Amino acid sequence: MNPIRYERRRYTTGQTPIEKLERLSRELGGPVISIKRDDLTGLTAGGNKTRKLEYLVADAVRQGADTLITCGAVQSNHCRLTLAAAVREGLKCQLVLTEPEGGYDPQASGNHLLFHLLGAEKIEVIEADGDMHAAMDKLAHELASQGRKAYLIPVGGSNEVGSLGYMACAEEIEQQAWESGTPYDYVVTATGSGGTQAGLLAGFWARNSNTRVIGVNVSRDRQSQEAKVLELLGSTARTIGLKGEPSPDTVQCEDRYVGPGYAIPTAEMVEAVQLVARTEGILLDPVYTGKAMAGLIGLIREGRFAKEDQVLFLHTGGSPALYTAPQLFLP
Ligand SMILES: Cc1ncc(COP(=O)(O)O)c(C=O)c1O
Repeated sequence: MNPIRYERRRYTTGQTPIEKLERLSRELGGPVISIKRDDLTGLTAGGNKTRKLEYLVADAVRQGADTLITCGAVQSNHCRLTLAAAVREGLKCQLVLTEPEGGYDPQASGNHLLFHLLGAEKIEVIEADGDMHAAMDKLAHELASQGRKAYLIPVGGSNEVGSLGYMACAEEIEQQAWESGTPYDYVVTATGSGGTQAGLLAGFWARNSNTRVIGVNVSRDRQSQEAKVLELLGSTARTIGLKGEPSPDTVQCEDRYVGPGYAIPTAEMVEAVQLVARTEGILLDPVYTGKAMAGLIGLIREGRFAKEDQVLFLHTGGSPALYTAPQLFLP
């Protein structure tokens, strides 16, 4: 197994910090909570997609692509960071967005504002249940007919190549644990398209680490999310030549904090975002990390962890969306 064989662009200088959340741990009565600041990765406003893009964009450059095409929601952090990587590499970028409930607002702020500021070459909006991958294929064909070459990145950057970014992150966590003398019992992360969780699991597996990963779902039910992550874990493992099959019970997802659906706020999310802001001065987001932290708090309150357990919360970014829903947090 050797992900080092894969080409990698570098968008973050050094390791992202791990900080102890002493006030939050005290407030919740244990376990020992730390946070891995992947909101501080490189590229515009940072986040987990930067790590996946280090491998995906290296692959695009190797293939001689001149344009990145990807897809997501109107507030997609992944689209923002793909575009930022394209800018950094001197590539063009086209986006396929799905129409949100209530219709597409061309004036929408947050990540959508940044799509314009960063100079997306094209933004195509399709209906909510439209086929994003078919729409990306169509854009790629149009470019090919003009003699250009597109590289398609799936939703969330979650495929075997993107997952390598989180294998590398698992490796980084292991190194930091070694340096600080703190092995982590658990990593808790938001899980959506699944590449973050699958990559972490592949990385800990490759290292023979005892660290367990808990994914807090932001959309699907538990069974479908666990199946999705397991499939990607298996294909990532095969791609890099890890021996054996992944064990299904290593894939653990929690679906009790999704609420009514993807990106729909919950009271627990609002409480979590406020609590972390007021105890630690760290900003989470309403769609991913707010719900993931609500999950961590919920699991702590129901006694899932021992007081001395070392729990590492992965901050996967997303802050631009915080400013699209001020009514949630204003008095
Ligand atoms: C801020 C943030 N956190 C977490 C996730 C979920 O990561 P993954 O799609 O790899 O499961 C996303 C995905 O878009 C995200 O933007």
